[in-house]
Amino acid sequence: MFQVKVPATSANLGPGFDCMGLAVKLYNYFKAEENDKLEFYLKGTYTANIPTDQNNLLWKTACILWERIGFSPKPLKLTFESHVPPARGLGSSSTAVVAGLMIANAVAGYPLERFDLLKIATEIEGHPDNVTPAIYGGITLTIMNENSLLPRVLTKNPLFKAVVVIPDLLVETEKAREILPSSVSRKDVIFNSSRVGLLVDAFINQEYNLLSIATQDKIHQNQRASLIPGMPEALASAVRSGAYGAALSGSGPTLLAFCSSGSAQPVGENMQKALADNFIESTCLTLDIDSDGAVLTKI
Ligand code: HSE
Repeated sequence: MFQVKVPATSANLGPGFDCMGLAVKLYNYFKAEENDKLEFYLKGTYTANIPTDQNNLLWKTACILWERIGFSPKPLKLTFESHVPPARGLGSSSTAVVAGLMIANAVAGYPLERFDLLKIATEIEGHPDNVTPAIYGGITLTIMNENSLLPRVLTKNPLFKAVVVIPDLLVETEKAREILPSSVSRKDVIFNSSRVGLLVDAFINQEYNLLSIATQDKIHQNQRASLIPGMPEALASAVRSGAYGAALSGSGPTLLAFCSSGSAQPVGENMQKALADNFIESTCLTLDIDSDGAVLTKI
């Protein structure tokens, strides 16, 4: 009936806490087929602990959309092919939320626009920084404005690679948010807001040399360092090895570095070494930016 391909995403990009993000060419695939009962099939690399009942995130999300539009839930055979590691700061739960909304909308005959899906996805996630790039692709900035959202796609085809170093440890977003202080100083607000401006400038004008300063943050990364041994050293080593800039990916533990094609390998290796020095094993992927966002096809 329908297949949805949803990209992994990296949120924050340093100072853009809860508002900036990008999509990368690493995907989860979801298939929905008509069926007489609700059934789930799991495939791919990361299938452990995914509920195969009414508690499945894709299904729960689909039901939320159907309830909003007054459509009676339809039993489906759902197949999930997972390539995005969960609880690593690469937006794996956003892929399920976005897929659930796109499938539910398609099953109901497409009553909602992409922007409506973004609004519901943001309500479910609590912040738009993963779901906006997951839906629209590219590098995005999303402004939450009273009861609405203003999503902006800054660029779809930047001229750099995203090197992602994925530590072999799990960080639950909820815990990584609880650890943050509830208020920040005016000095740190100025530090971050000036760098978000610079980040937008760097991406739009392709001035990637600005990224070493533009990816700096004062309000969440170091506060989360206790969850990711070796993180500050790995981020510093990325820039020393030739990355344009580097940041914690979402709430971690994955680390993201912006690199030219030539610097991707040494940057990845040195970040991994900095983690290994702290007894953390990791996997490194060099990825291009996804420019399409989630794509639904009729099968
Ligand atoms: N902006 C969120 C955070 C991303 O850093 O907590 C979580 O995926």
